[in-house]
Amino acid sequence: MKAFIVSNVFYRVPTSVPHILALFAVSLALSATALRANEFTQQDAAADVFQQRIMPIFRSSKPSSCVQCHLASVDLKDYILPSHTETFTALLNAGLIDRNNPTKSKILSLIQMGEKDPNLTAERLHAKTRQAEYEAFEYWIIKSCEENPDAKDATRPGDTDDSLLSDNQVGPRHPIEVVRHTRKDRLIESFTREVWSQRMRCFPCHTPFEINPENPQHQKAKQRHQELVRQYGARMNLFEKSPTATMDRWISSSRKVRANQLPLLHLESPGDSLILLKPLSKIPAKLDDGTLPAPSSVIPVSHAGGLKMFEHDQSYKSIRRWIEDYADVVQGNYKFVDQLPTDRWIPTEKIIRISEIPQRIPTGTPVQIFVHLDDQPNDPIAFTQGIVTPRHFVNGPLHKIGQPSPTHPLKSSNAYNKTDNEPRDGESNLNPGEENEPTLPPGTYVIRVYVDTKNKLAKTPERFLDSEDFYGATHISTEWKTGFPNATIIPATSLHATAP
Ligand code: HEC
Ligand code: HEC
Repeated sequence: MKAFIVSNVFYRVPTSVPHILALFAVSLALSATALRANEFTQQDAAADVFQQRIMPIFRSSKPSSCVQCHLASVDLKDYILPSHTETFTALLNAGLIDRNNPTKSKILSLIQMGEKDPNLTAERLHAKTRQAEYEAFEYWIIKSCEENPDAKDATRPGDTDDSLLSDNQVGPRHPIEVVRHTRKDRLIESFTREVWSQRMRCFPCHTPFEINPENPQHQKAKQRHQELVRQYGARMNLFEKSPTATMDRWISSSRKVRANQLPLLHLESPGDSLILLKPLSKIPAKLDDGTLPAPSSVIPVSHAGGLKMFEHDQSYKSIRRWIEDYADVVQGNYKFVDQLPTDRWIPTEKIIRISEIPQRIPTGTPVQIFVHLDDQPNDPIAFTQGIVTPRHFVNGPLHKIGQPSPTHPLKSSNAYNKTDNEPRDGESNLNPGEENEPTLPPGTYVIRVYVDTKNKLAKTPERFLDSEDFYGATHISTEWKTGFPNATIIPATSLHATAP
């Protein structure tokens, strides 16, 4: 740890020699503490160290280093109580302080977790805060343990009911499922499925990394993209090399408030996110002299790329759902397990088409199609949505609906596993291969179709239609071949208004 601190500081501020010396001094003082405890003056009493170094963390309006990975629900502040004695006792009771080996206390390994982040940008961004927290806690724990050699770690964690924290307990204030749902790696995982997977709809204009300069078929795309960047600048490159980099870019861009541009991700009003409104908008109307005005990035929005999405297709629904979930996470709206979204969508290339839709259903009407294993209206396994085309059919790629989001722990966080006393319910349900290869095996399925004749989706596009909107259902036998030319086609006339 100490070697890490020194080299990291050196890396960050190579010119600040006095700073480095000061840090060396702190390190020396720390390693000497255990040996020369008696030489500390009264001012170094643990209670004073608590006041001087731990309370500022508790009172700070800034989030702690935990925010690098926990966007909500957990903060280092949750491990601090208003007094030195209460905090020490509570951390001992929770098994987070190791009296026999203070520098190996679990609270210190929690603070150290940020070092293991594979995202080096995030790791560096929070390094300074983390060091300050680590040093403050390490010093205070060493002092406290010296002064209280007989303090008992009263109860072991697991003996108590963690879901109901009493006043003098420490730890996250929300259920563990909420802690997991609000973790950044979970959000990246859903971003990958629900947003990143749709990026080819924005090819080549916004996807520089999908253009292969060696591929002769991409020469036109390459040229087009270059011209657009020349005209509109680097903002064209919305999709970065990886889902994580893309998400980070959108998040940090959205933090800047601009008078002439809506944020890419609009937290207060997700439907007004520029990332949704641009592709829903047309090219700006020509001026009288025949030239195109600059596209608008405030309402009414216009998009030099033209209409690339409409409100009732699956991409829109997916991206919008992700933005709503993201907004709920960072605004701290999730407090209970039943507030968490319960389904996760995995895009597939299996296409379903309802053909011969009767003329009485107007072109443009949204239709939702659910795939079930049996006729259980409540547990679809796949879903898509589209609008009735002028040729009176509806088309869409199926999205598999998975289990409630189990989290994917960072592989490098083994150290933390040892400190984790919670059983991991739910994690064993995840079929690890499923993430990359969503399967929809050949077989017999029930298809249920809902038509939005009452215009419900105009108000809440992310919702599912209900029994009132039920159009019909049928049994089918299909191989689920991939791609639009191989769509599984079901004539609307074969749908029965009562379940088969
Ligand atoms: C580098 C990312 C990262 C940082 C920084 C981080 N954590 Fe975590 N945290 C995780 C991951 C990943 C898990 C779940 C994996 C595991 O259990 O090992 C987790 C799990 C937890 C859990 C247990 C919840 C569960 O899923 O069982 C708690 C409590 C927790 N962290 C608290 C903290 C606190 C407090 C801090 C700041 C002092 C912090 N974490 C900093 C990544 C991080
Ligand atoms: C044919 C090219 C093209 C396609 C395809 C395209 N766009 Fe665009 N887009 C543009 C151009 C050109 C601009 C810059 C001018 C403007 O703001 O309209 C732009 C601007 C944007 C902006 C504003 C970025 C900023 O920071 O100012 C967003 C957001 C956007 N597009 C989203 C999308 C999404 C999402 C898709 C895919 C679903 C998409 N676009 C598909 C050409 C395209």
